[in-house]
Amino acid sequence: MKFGHFDDQNKEYVITTPKTPLPWINYLGCTDFFSLMSNTCGGYTFYKDAKLLRMTRYRYNDTTPDTNGKYFYIKDGDTIWNPGWQPTKTELDSYECRHGIGYSKFTGVKNDVKAELITFVPIGDPVELTKVTITNNSSAHKDIQLFSYVEWCLWNADDDMKNYQRNLSIGEVEVIDSTIYHKTEYRERRNHYAVYSVNTKIDGFETSRDEFRGAYNGPDRPAAVIEGKLHNTIASGWYPIASHQINLSLDAGECKTFVFALGYVENPEDEKWEKPGIINKKRANALLAKYQTTEDFDNALAKLNTYWDGLLSKFHVESNDEHVNRMVNIWNQYQCMVTFNMSRSASYYETGIGRGMGFRDSCQDLLGFVHLIPDRARERIIDIASTQFQDGSAYHQYQPLTKKGNSDIGSGFNDDPLWLIAGTSAYIRETGDTSILKEMVPYDNDMSVATTLMEHLKRSFDYIVNHKGPHDLPLIGRADWNDCLNLNCFSEHPGESFQCFGPSEGPVAESVFIAGMFVKYGREYAALAKLMGDTAEEARVLAEVDKMTAAIEKDGWDGDWFVRAYDAYSHKVGSKECDEGQIYIEPQGMCVMAGVGVDDGNAKKALDSVKEKLDTKYGVMILQPAYTRYHLELGEITSYPPGYKENAGIFCHNNPWISIAETCIGRGDRAFEVYKKTCPSYIEDISEIHRTEPYVYSQMVAGADARFHGEAKNSWLTGTAAWTFTNISQYILGIYPTLEGLSVNPCTPAAFGDFNITREYRGVIYNIEIKNPNKVQKGVASLTVDGNEIEGNVIPFDSSKKTVNVVATMK
Ligand code: BGC
Repeated sequence: MKFGHFDDQNKEYVITTPKTPLPWINYLGCTDFFSLMSNTCGGYTFYKDAKLLRMTRYRYNDTTPDTNGKYFYIKDGDTIWNPGWQPTKTELDSYECRHGIGYSKFTGVKNDVKAELITFVPIGDPVELTKVTITNNSSAHKDIQLFSYVEWCLWNADDDMKNYQRNLSIGEVEVIDSTIYHKTEYRERRNHYAVYSVNTKIDGFETSRDEFRGAYNGPDRPAAVIEGKLHNTIASGWYPIASHQINLSLDAGECKTFVFALGYVENPEDEKWEKPGIINKKRANALLAKYQTTEDFDNALAKLNTYWDGLLSKFHVESNDEHVNRMVNIWNQYQCMVTFNMSRSASYYETGIGRGMGFRDSCQDLLGFVHLIPDRARERIIDIASTQFQDGSAYHQYQPLTKKGNSDIGSGFNDDPLWLIAGTSAYIRETGDTSILKEMVPYDNDMSVATTLMEHLKRSFDYIVNHKGPHDLPLIGRADWNDCLNLNCFSEHPGESFQCFGPSEGPVAESVFIAGMFVKYGREYAALAKLMGDTAEEARVLAEVDKMTAAIEKDGWDGDWFVRAYDAYSHKVGSKECDEGQIYIEPQGMCVMAGVGVDDGNAKKALDSVKEKLDTKYGVMILQPAYTRYHLELGEITSYPPGYKENAGIFCHNNPWISIAETCIGRGDRAFEVYKKTCPSYIEDISEIHRTEPYVYSQMVAGADARFHGEAKNSWLTGTAAWTFTNISQYILGIYPTLEGLSVNPCTPAAFGDFNITREYRGVIYNIEIKNPNKVQKGVASLTVDGNEIEGNVIPFDSSKKTVNVVATMK
C-alpha cells in the first residue's frame, strides 16, 4: 500500500494523506541552519548544533503523535483547521504534502479556502522562510483569520527538558511591529536570539503559551484561536512562544500571500544592546529585510533549486530501471548530504540531545558525500582527525559546535582509527588533492602536538598493528563497527553503559571485522604512501596487511564463512561452534570487500552462506540464529529481543557490504537482488509494512524473528545512505574513482541492459555509455575514451579536457 507517489520530474515525493504510518519528514537547510519538517508540519529547528542551539521545541517520545511543529491555523467561521492537518486534525477537503530537495510544500483545502505553504532555508542565511498563500475559492466574500505558531526552546535542548525550576522563570521576549524576538538568556552569557516575523502588519500577537492555548489545552485546541483573538501578551518566564494573527478579508476568488521568517541572529559582544535591556536588532532587521516580498522568496527558492540541480548533476544515470534512476539521481544523494550534515544527531529517532557527530559515522558519511562538495569533505576530515589521540585511537564522538571530543564516551572503539583512512582515501581518490595529507592537524584539539594528516593516518594504521590479540587479530576494545558487540564490558546492572562500563581494553577479545578493515584500508593507505613517494612505508604496510590476511585465513575462517570475533575467553563468536549467533554479516562483507578469499573460493562460500542463512525477502539479517537470552560476555547485542537492531535485525548499513562483496566475485544478479531488497523506491508498495519514508533508507528493518518482520525504524540518519550510494554508483554501475582516474567496471544483472552515466570528476564531465550486448554480469571487453581504445579499466585523468566521452562495452 502507498501513501503517495514519486514525482521525479520535480524531484519530489508527493504524500496524499496526512495519515502516513509514521511522520514522513524532510530536512531543510544545507550548512548551518536546519529544520526538520514532517508531512503534517511537525518538527524542530536549530542552528549548527541540535543540542546547544535549539530554536524550537520538540516533544520527546512523540514520534507518532508528532504534536509540536511550526503551525498555521486558519479560523473560518467556527471551523479551525491547519493546512498540514496537525495539530487540530480537522478533516480536510483535500491535502497534499510535497517533500522536495531542501523544501516542503503543503496544500490544504477546507470549505473552499485553499492554503498553500512552501517552506525552505535559503542558501547562506540562518532563516527558515515560509510563503503562505490563502485563496478564497468560494463564490462569497469571506472574513477569516490566519495564526502562526512556534514554541521556543530555551536554547540548550538538554537543559530545556530537565531544569524546570530555573527555566520556567527565565523566558523573555520583545515584540516590535510584526516581529517577535526570543531573547531568553541573552541578558547573561548568550550573544544570540531568535526572531519570528511576517512581512505584513499584524492584528495581534501572542508570546505566552498558556495565553495562546489556555490552561489544560494542547496545540490542537488553542483557546485564543477559538476565541479568534490573540492577547498581545509579553511572556515573562513559563513557556514563550511566537504567534501572529492576520485578519483576512477575501472576496470570492481573491488570494493573499505572506512571507514568514524564522531566523537566528548573533551579535558581537560589544554590540549586544540597543539600550539597557533592549536587544540590538540591527542584524535581525538586515536579515529580515532580505526577504520582505514574494519575489525575494521566489528568487531565494529558485537559487536553492539551482544549487541542488548543480549538486545532483554530478552523478546522473539513465538506465532502464526507474528505481535506480530515481534513487541515484535524487534521493540517495540527497540523503547523503543530510547524513553528512547531521551525522546521527537530530532526527525523529535521534533526539539531538544525545550523540553529536560520530567519528566512524562521519568518516563513512564522507564516502557518499565527497563528490558533492569536496571542500566541505576536506574540512570535515580535518575536524575529525583533530579529535584523534596521539596513539592513533580516537574520541568516538564529538560535538559539532565545539568540535571537541565527548569525554563521557571517550575512545576505545577499535575500528574508529581505520575509518579515518577510509574517508581520507575517498577524498583523495575523488579530488586528487594530496595537499590535505600535508596539513598540520592537532591531536585531541591540541595544536602544540600537531602533525601532518599523513602522520595521523600512519598512527591510525599502527594503532591496529600495536593492538593485536592472541590470534594476531585486532583487539576489539569497547566495540568495533557493531557498537553492541561488547566483548569486554560484562555489564550486569541496569543503567550501566554497555560500552563504557568496566574494563574496555581487554587483552584477549579480537575482531575479525577489524581485521578485514585493516586489509582493505591498509591497502588504501599503502597506495597513499606510494603516491607521496614513500615506498618504504608502502612496503611496510603491505607486509602488515599480508600478515593480517594470513591471520584471517588461519583463525578467522570457520569452514563456510568468516568468524566474527573472539570473546574475552578466546571463544569464537559467529561460528558453528556457538549455539546462538553462528554467522554474522559483517566479516563476510568486509573480508570479501578486502579481497580475502576471492582467489581461493572462500569468498564465494561465505556469500553463499549469507544467502542461505541470513537472507529474507526484506533484506539480509545481521546474524543468525538470533540470541534468545542475555549473554554477559557479548553485551548489548543480546539485550535486544530477537529480530531487532543488532540482534538479528536487517541492519541496512551492511547490506551494501554484501552487495559490494558480490560484485567483487562478479555476481551482478545477486548484488542487485541484495540492493533492491532495502531500496526505498523498490519497496514503496509495502509502505504499510515498512512504515518509514519510502524515499530514504532507515537504519534497521525488523528481521525474520521479530513480531513485525519488515517494519523499518530510525529513518534518515544512517550510514546506509553513504554505503548504498557507494555500492550502486561505484560497484554495480561501476564508476569508481581511483587515485589515477575514474575506473569503469560495472557489475550488473545480466538483464539490466545498457545505460549512460554523466559524472563530474575533478572538474571534468565524463559522459559514459555502457553497452552490454551479450548480457554478462561483469567484465569490460573494450573501453574507448574520446574515440581511442585504451588498455584496462581506468580512464587516465586529463585536466586539460572539459568533457570526456567514454564507451565501455562489456564482454
Ligand atoms: C551507529 C554506528 C554503529 C551502528 C551499529 C549505529 O547506530 O551510529 O556507529 O556502527 O549503529 O552498531
